[in-house]
Amino acid sequence: MVNISKSELEALERVDYGCFGTIYRKDDKVYKVYHEKVKNDFKEPVDNPLLDFPFLTIHKLNRLIRLNSSIKYTDLTEDILYVDNKFAGMVMPYYEGELFANLKDLPLEERIRLLRELLRNAKELTESGIYLFDQRLKNVMLVNGEVKIIDTDDYYVKAPFIKNPYYFFKSIYSLDSTCKSFLGEFVRSTHREVITSKVSRKFYRNTYSYKALEEYLDFKSIPYRILFIDDEFDIDSDKLISGSRVLLVYDKLDIPHILETINKLDQRCITVYDVVSREDMRAYMNNIAHDECLFVEHNRVLTLK
Ligand SMILES: Nc1ncnc2c1ncn2[C@@H]1O[C@H](COP(=O)(O)OP(=O)(O)O)[C@@H](O)[C@H]1O
Ligand SMILES: [Mg+2]
Repeated sequence: MVNISKSELEALERVDYGCFGTIYRKDDKVYKVYHEKVKNDFKEPVDNPLLDFPFLTIHKLNRLIRLNSSIKYTDLTEDILYVDNKFAGMVMPYYEGELFANLKDLPLEERIRLLRELLRNAKELTESGIYLFDQRLKNVMLVNGEVKIIDTDDYYVKAPFIKNPYYFFKSIYSLDSTCKSFLGEFVRSTHREVITSKVSRKFYRNTYSYKALEEYLDFKSIPYRILFIDDEFDIDSDKLISGSRVLLVYDKLDIPHILETINKLDQRCITVYDVVSREDMRAYMNNIAHDECLFVEHNRVLTLK
């Protein structure tokens, strides 16, 4: 247990804050001090549940402290923090690093590599019965080249004595959206829903498991061909290799034409992964692996690098 006075706390460097607490730095540790008030779903201030029921919070923190030594990749809570003898928060190591939220511009291969490491770390937690429901890019950091999950003490963390499949599902669900937002998967183009409902959705199966997430990362690593379709698009072109997968790019939103193209490509065993407009393509390109770009112009298929 660490006990400091309010004036000592106020003299410390304030690192950052989140919904539930403020992070202060003390040498190589951080002190996370829970806010008195937090915002509810309607953005109204309410008492912080972490402080409202200190007994429950301390119970959970103690459990994390006990589990800490058996967890290799994540630093859980190290100590319980009191300010002026009153329960106030927790202590963990200080990280000099960058939040994943600020790393979205890294090259795709690098982001995929980091996510594989995140999966390994998250898996270790769920296998030890620690379930995080609030995994997001602001709760993961890159520290000296290593992926570190933070915020393992928040209100949404569960560490029951018996493993719980429902909690497992919820934590994978939240990890899944973390991975997808890191890879820019939520970039939405105009009318995308209409078109992509026709595109094979098997890549977005709603099976939530580590294996499915790993497969998703493998899938994202394989290069696509980018196919630009316009009025003169020649579906029979031998440039189209059967078995490949393509990103369709259109200039004019002619949905019947696009759907027809998707069907024809499908018959030739060419998988359309997604459909975007030319304007949206640039944003999209940062988030997919691609080896070549096929543009169809005046009945000729051009290959662009
Ligand atoms: N151990 C740490 N080292 C350095 N910065 C941290 C650490 N823990 C949290 N932070 C920073 O403080 C912010 C809020 O911390 P977090 O634990 O996520 O609080 P909350 O539960 O309120 O979201 C984080 O987004 C991160 O920027
Ligand atoms: Mg947080």
